Formats: sequence, structure tokens, C-alpha cells
Amino acid sequence: MQPVTISTQPIAGQKPGTSGLRKKTAQFMEPGYLENFVQAIWNGIGGVAGKVLVLGGDGRYFNDRAAQVILRMAAASGAARVITGAGAILSTPAASNLIRQRGADGGIILSASHNPGGPDADFGVKYNIANGGPAPEAVTAAIHAATETLRHYLTLETPDIDLARLGETRLGDMVVEVVDPVAAYADLMETLFDFKAMRALLDSGFQLRFDAMHAVTGPYAIEILERRLGAAPGSVINARPLPDFGQGHPDPNPVWAKPLHDLMFTPQAPDFAAASDGDGDRNMIMGRGIYVTPSDSLALLAAQAHLCPGYAGGLKGVARSMPTSQAVDRVAQARGWAAHATPTGWKFFGTLLDAGLVTLCGEESFGTGSDHVREKDGLWAVLMWLNVLAVTGRSVADLMAAHWAEFGRTWYSRHDYEAVDAGVATALMEDLRAALPGLAGRQAATLRVESAEDFAYTDPVDGSRAESQGIQIRFDEGARAVLRLSGTGTEGATLRVYLEAFEQTPQGDDTQAVLAPVRAAVEALAGITVRTGRKEPDVIT
Ligand code: G1P
Ligand code: ZN
Repeated sequence: MQPVTISTQPIAGQKPGTSGLRKKTAQFMEPGYLENFVQAIWNGIGGVAGKVLVLGGDGRYFNDRAAQVILRMAAASGAARVITGAGAILSTPAASNLIRQRGADGGIILSASHNPGGPDADFGVKYNIANGGPAPEAVTAAIHAATETLRHYLTLETPDIDLARLGETRLGDMVVEVVDPVAAYADLMETLFDFKAMRALLDSGFQLRFDAMHAVTGPYAIEILERRLGAAPGSVINARPLPDFGQGHPDPNPVWAKPLHDLMFTPQAPDFAAASDGDGDRNMIMGRGIYVTPSDSLALLAAQAHLCPGYAGGLKGVARSMPTSQAVDRVAQARGWAAHATPTGWKFFGTLLDAGLVTLCGEESFGTGSDHVREKDGLWAVLMWLNVLAVTGRSVADLMAAHWAEFGRTWYSRHDYEAVDAGVATALMEDLRAALPGLAGRQAATLRVESAEDFAYTDPVDGSRAESQGIQIRFDEGARAVLRLSGTGTEGATLRVYLEAFEQTPQGDDTQAVLAPVRAAVEALAGITVRTGRKEPDVIT
């Protein structure tokens, strides 16, 4: 079958951010928008002739149509095979797993993660490389460069193919292989965790609730938690994936998963609760009467990983994104593991995982994962917690209290100021950056600045360099603040302010009160209220 060449013009702004290209759905649906970007991916990676690709998305609005466009374009450019989940749906970690298991050359993930979905909401396209992880900066830069010179794209004039039926079909000379999206992933989980111990825990009356937020993890959670582990039917709520996530914001945090969060502070609370996001790579962990911050969750899982069969041999090292709290560093120090701090975004963990330098990694943004795939993995984190709960027989609150008693408590919160005028936000960051050289030793509200830097990172494996990855200000007594602009937003700028304080012997339970001096210090240095007119952040996690 002859490919058809369609003339086009470069479209400005097709620059992948922290996690692929994210735009309003309507923009992605404009004639040629998706096609241009997909052709730029092919061009940026040196073509797809003869290659095997994985394709899957979180099932949001436009997932189905985008998948058909991409299949035709892959076939037109000579790809040998595309493996996709039924309905072109795969959670992000399941897609990463498929790329690795099938030895594919790469994959395309259709998702805007935790951003809402629908015709008026967000869509995204992300390219992952052969290790199963997000394309590194050099690759996304090549793709972006390709968008700027694009003159035509190739496609086929063929009808849509049926993606509901499992098995192989041909599209031109290319094979489209439709697989069960859940099975291989669920099997992988069985190799990592003690399913017998978890089944026994659930048999003993232990109650759990998992909120799939009407997003991609519903079928995965039903299969693993209810079918394979025997959690009571109905333990997985909002399990049916919907193209608009039921009009919700599929972001597992105390703000967007508020009903679940609030339930855990009532007498009806189950023993354990968790939620995942649009594409299944994020997680929120709660116990009865306790919310575990993602940074603490990473630290706890690192400290207890040896209780899980897949990690019984110990960890090689750990990594966190720079803004993530230093709680996991304290565990690493006590255990003698290397601890890496990378820029924000999972793509920076890939080389460390590939080189065997780290086993576990995580981000404060509800992302936790390990070397089992090259994406963060929401259900994996839930299962690791369940494994630890099953083996120790302790509650979430008990485990955290013991953890803090041993390692001290790293208090942590992120304050987001959303849809700030882009010029105001950029100027705020630029002025703070300009002031950095004079900050050390200066008083800021009640705290004294110990050091201040514009975070830059040299990858220890491939030597690549990432500059200006956020402003990090350290204060006396282990307190710290980080300021950076989001790279995933689709409206104006989002200013993220990460606040941290440390207590060897933790007092009280009010995170915001403990962090108030750090917040005041940031205000003194950056003038957020004065510049943005915002007195309070839009989202506190
Ligand atoms: C956000 C998170 C970051 C995460 C990314 C993709 O990026 O902060 O940790 O890797 O989403 O899930 P940001 O909007 O801050 O650039
Ligand atoms: Zn996500």
C-alpha cells in the first residue's frame, strides 16, 4: 500500500515539557496538529522503518481517534509492528513494561496524566525509548527541532481498524497486535510482591479502598486487588474508566481525592486507602487517620523494601527529584546506599536505573517507582505498601511513627500557585535567580539562609547536563525551600513552592504550622503575594 504524503507547515510551540507534549484537547484536534507532532517524533528518532512500537493511552477523550491516526502514520513510515492494549488503552507503567518485555524499539503514550480530560480539557503525547522510559532531553530536543522544519507527513488512506478485538491485524505492511492491557502487568506484580501474605492479610478482615478516579487503573486494580488478592468486591471505587474521568480531576492528592482523604479521618475508615491518577503512574497512600506524604512514602518503602520478595536482596541506591524531601536520603545514609537528586521529571531516573545505580526512586508529586519498569507506578506502590503491611502486621500510622522515631521527621508540603500570569511568574524567578549570589548568610523572616543555588545537574552516567532546574534555598537546621515553574501546565504559569523542615524528635502533627517559618522566609525573599496578588496557594499537597 502506497503512503500518502500530506503537505504541512511547522506549528509553533510543539516543545515537549516535563513529560511529553501537553496541550488543550481542542488544539491537538486541530487539523494536522497531532500528525505534525507524530511525524516529528518519527523524524526526530531517525524514522520507524522496520521498528516495533508500543502504543497506548489512558483512555481520555480523543485517545481512540489519536491512536488510529498514529497507527496509520506508523504503517505509512514503514514500522514493522505496533503492539497496543485493547481499545488503545494501557496505563503508563503497563506501557513501559510492554516496551521492555517485548523488546520494542520505543512507544507512544497518549496521556496528560493527572490533568482533566475531555473536549475542553487536556491531551498529551509522549515518546518513550527502548528502555521503557520517557525520552531523555536529547531525544525530545531532536523531536522539537523536527517540528520546526516539518514540511510534510506520511499517512495511509485506510479505514479505522478494530482495536477492541485481541489478536493481530494488518494495516498496510504493518502488523497491529492488540493485547490484554492488564495481564502482563499483573503477572509482573506477582513476581515482585508476596501475594500469599497479602491474600492472608485481606482474608483476615483487613479493609482497603482504592480510588481509580474513573481513570485507567480501574481494570488493573480490579484484577490485582479484587481478583488475584481477594479484596472484597467494591474495594476498588470509581473503577470504570471514562473519557472525561467523570468530570473529575484524576490527581491522587488530598485536594482532588478529597472524599477518600476525608473518609480516612472518620470512624468508618478502612485500614488502608490509596488512589491513582489518569494514566496510573501516580499514587496517594493513606492509613486510618493518617495521610502519608509521597516523600515519606518513598522513604518508608526504601527502609522496608527488603520485606518484599522482589527487593529482598537490598537496594542498590535510591534517587529522588531535587524538590522531593530529603527523608529518603536519611534512610540511604543510615543504610549506606548512594542517594541521587535529579531534576524534576521521571526521564532523569532512566540512566541511573539502566546503569544499576538505583533500585527505588520517587518524586514528591505522588510518583514512586523502581527498576521493574522505567516509569513511576501507582499500583506498584500500593502493592509494596500492602506487602509491608502484611509482613509487619502493623498499621500505616504505626509504621510511620516508628519510621520517624528512627530517622527523624522531614516535614514537607508543596504550595502551587496556578494560572499565574506567565510574565509575572518568569520575572519572579528571574529576580530571585539574580539575587542568589548574595543570599547566603542573609536573614529571611526568622530563618538564616545557609546556601542558595539555581539547580543544575550532570547525569553521572551519560554526562548530559540540565541547567536551571529550580531554585534551591537551604536554611539553618535542615530547612529548605525550592521554587520552580511547572513544565506540564497548559494555562499561564504554575509556580511551585516546595517547603521542608526537619525535626529529629518530631513534635505535634500540624505540617503547615511547622513549615510556616519556611513559607515566611520564601515570602521575604521572593515576594509571591506582592507580585502575584495571591495570598494563598491554589493547591496545597
Ligand atoms: C509535574 C511534577 C513532576 C512530574 C510531572 C509528570 O511536573 O511536578 O514531578 O514528573 O508532573 O507527572 P511539573 O508540572 O512540576 O513540571
Ligand atoms: Zn500520571
